[in-house]
Amino acid sequence: MARGNDASDPRLHGTDIAESVIDLIGNTPLVRLKRISELHGIQCVLAMKMETTNPGGSAKDRPALEMILAAEREGLLQPGGTIVEPTSGNTGVGLAIVAAQRGYHCVFVMTDKVAPEKVSLLRAYGAEVVVCPVAVPPEDPQSYYKVAERLTVERQAFRPNQYANPNNPLAHERTTGPELWAQTGGRITHFVAGAGTCGTITGTARYLKSMNPAIKVIAGDPDASVFSGGSGRPYLVEGVGEDFYPAAWAPELYDDVIPISDEESFLTAREVSREEGILIGGSGGMAVAAAIKVAKQAGPDDIVVVLNPDSGRGYLSRVFDDAWMANFGFLRECDECIAAVLDTRGDTPSLLYVNPSHTVRDAIDLMRANGVSQLPVCKNTPPFAAAEVAGAVDELDLLEAIARDASTLSQPVEHVMGPKLPTIGVGQKVSLAVEMLDGAPALLVLAGGRPLSVLTRTDLLTYFEVLSNG
Ligand SMILES: Cc1ncc(COP(=O)(O)O)c(C=O)c1O
Repeated sequence: MARGNDASDPRLHGTDIAESVIDLIGNTPLVRLKRISELHGIQCVLAMKMETTNPGGSAKDRPALEMILAAEREGLLQPGGTIVEPTSGNTGVGLAIVAAQRGYHCVFVMTDKVAPEKVSLLRAYGAEVVVCPVAVPPEDPQSYYKVAERLTVERQAFRPNQYANPNNPLAHERTTGPELWAQTGGRITHFVAGAGTCGTITGTARYLKSMNPAIKVIAGDPDASVFSGGSGRPYLVEGVGEDFYPAAWAPELYDDVIPISDEESFLTAREVSREEGILIGGSGGMAVAAAIKVAKQAGPDDIVVVLNPDSGRGYLSRVFDDAWMANFGFLRECDECIAAVLDTRGDTPSLLYVNPSHTVRDAIDLMRANGVSQLPVCKNTPPFAAAEVAGAVDELDLLEAIARDASTLSQPVEHVMGPKLPTIGVGQKVSLAVEMLDGAPALLVLAGGRPLSVLTRTDLLTYFEVLSNG
């Protein structure tokens, strides 16, 4: 049902024709996750709030509308005005939809790291997209923060800034919360959602707790995000978790924040898509993974609702690509896989590595003590994310560098390191490793998205030898 119409055109009276696409934002359906409940032995009612049915396909249509309406009321947006926001994601789509209807021009600023489809998607809505180099520091005039700042001033534009705008949580307090209350007949007992700007969880929590303070509100969170006690180090799930606390962060409203790994998020997204026929992305998978844990503890009469923020369509080349998943060590492709090669190596020590600031001498000492010829160079300390691998050092390259200039020994390895080792997933085929080692001295094995070990030709030889000895 369209959200009613207050159309002045009498021909629409008595019809269910929405006046504009804006009237179709919100009022998203709730659906029971029956098959997932059966598979996980869940007794209570577990239901999903389907934010994919918003016109832009995500929960972000709600705050986009609320932020623009508030800016109009406050005189921050004049007819024909411009909106500038650094975003590549769902908020951009929501803003572009509302801007199209209300006659504003949108400029979205993003880095060149963003997938080309995301640029095309926003341009399709008539938005202007400015792409900035990712490889410059934030204070550089070319950085995407600085470009967004400059364009806001130059175009006398309105900058919604969803991370600080109180109308972001307000949108959910006004719409998502009341919808959930009405759709469950006031019987919702638990609400589970991911948190990025925290607009969704905080706004919804405010409304639900005002109606019944006993309702439990639980955030699912990437295990590396600060919300669940992580350090904010890199992770792969998109759109949720942060390395800082946004304005809407309100821990007094959250009964629990459950850390979920990339692996569990992605595998749950695939399970929900396959089992329920509901295509969800990694962050939706993360929220469902948290909701499953909550639902398992809930009583049989409880109603647990999990919010799915967007569709899996935006993640087909990652979460739903078997090769991508296998390369990060999230999927097992075969029986005789890299894990079996590592097993034949016996008591392998945990990942040997150097930090970029370690000296070349440190690297050589570590190689010599462990009888290895390559080391990955990783930022921080274990457990590393794949994104924290900065490069690699190779015995032969170091030898050449030192022979040219003996002072290299006391230099940091980041001055002499080579490119990163090619990666292979722990569940990928041994034959793939054989192929890859034709052009590389060693491979970096990933498991659960994290570097696990370095694999060399010698490891493969040992493996084949053990196999042939039966
Ligand atoms: C893609 C995406 N963006 C954003 C969010 C977070 O919403 P909010 O910014 O309201 O906290 C989510 C939540 O799961 C999400 O999946």
